[in-house]
Amino acid sequence: LDQRKVVLGAKLFADTRLSGDGTVSCATCHDLAKAGQDGIPVARGIEGKLGQNNTPTVFNSGLNFRQFWDGRAETLEEQADGPTTNPVEMNGNWPEIIAKLQNDPAFMAEYQSIWSNELSPQNIKKAIAEYERSLVTFDAPFDKYLKGQTDALNVQALEGWKLFQKLGCISCHQGVNIGGNMYANLGILGDYFKDRGRPETLADRGRFNVTGNADDLHLFKVPSLRNVALTAPYFHDGSVPTLGDAVEIMAKYQLGVNLTAEQHAAILSFLNSLTGIFPGQVQ
Ligand code: HEC
Ligand code: HEC
Repeated sequence: LDQRKVVLGAKLFADTRLSGDGTVSCATCHDLAKAGQDGIPVARGIEGKLGQNNTPTVFNSGLNFRQFWDGRAETLEEQADGPTTNPVEMNGNWPEIIAKLQNDPAFMAEYQSIWSNELSPQNIKKAIAEYERSLVTFDAPFDKYLKGQTDALNVQALEGWKLFQKLGCISCHQGVNIGGNMYANLGILGDYFKDRGRPETLADRGRFNVTGNADDLHLFKVPSLRNVALTAPYFHDGSVPTLGDAVEIMAKYQLGVNLTAEQHAAILSFLNSLTGIFPGQVQ
């Protein structure tokens, strides 16, 4: 990573000048002190306007194969366009943002120490994305276990890890981010959306909104499970309040199994072992 871009990107991430009325920054919703998200069901943006989606964490987002619940952005650079100009998020526009930043000599000096060309939305997005790529958590008990420290997981978490593999959670939540590398339908062994008994929203359609392909209805990017114990509420719409509820829904609708109380507790214990150390956090 280019540290100069990381440092500039960190400032831009917290800069409310990127929003239309100067009140909202990326960090408003992606609060680093709240594991990179906001802790509420759906995001609250400019003038308190509510969106339809739960705010995912920005931590480890650089490890995802696509961005957004429906994967509509291929890169972090492309992703950063979305919230900046979204009318219910930041409601900014690039010409105004560029004008505001160009009037800030300290900002421009720092910018010109990295790029010799004019201030552009592309480079602002590059800096933000480089910063996001630096937001990698590390040394979760499960990471230590995989690296050979066999006592890093307690007996219950170890049992949970075995179940995670045996029951098939790992067929979707897999890879370095324990998720974030494929799409899957929500409701494979049961009709989750029908059983839920609430009218479907646009956001519930998932990747169908991007492709218009009937097979993509209710298809979502499988979320990363790193630090998942810290990012309630859950699912694309934040409608699932606790991690225990999320595990039950997953077992039933994705795998068609009813978990015993012990299995449930073991899986929760395993999910808790995925909480890592946050960059900058004192160990
Ligand atoms: C109003 C709250 C809000 C603001 C402000 C906001 N975001 Fe988000 N962010 C969200 C929500 C909600 C989603 C999920 C939206 C979706 O999937 O359709 C999201 C998704 C993301 C993702 C994708 C993560 C993943 O796992 O798919 C990244 C990265 C991200 N935001 C970065 C940013 C950056 C950078 C900014 C500032 C330019 C920003 N966000 C501003 C609420 C916000
Ligand atoms: C067939 C693929 C698949 C399988 C198998 C699967 N999941 Fe998921 N999981 C998903 C998808 C897709 C979502 C996102 C659902 C949504 O947002 O509406 C998800 C969401 C979650 C969440 C919520 C994460 C968040 O940030 O909101 C947790 C926790 C979870 N899964 C755990 C598990 C566990 C534990 C198992 C095994 C018992 C499992 N999953 C099996 C695909 C799968």
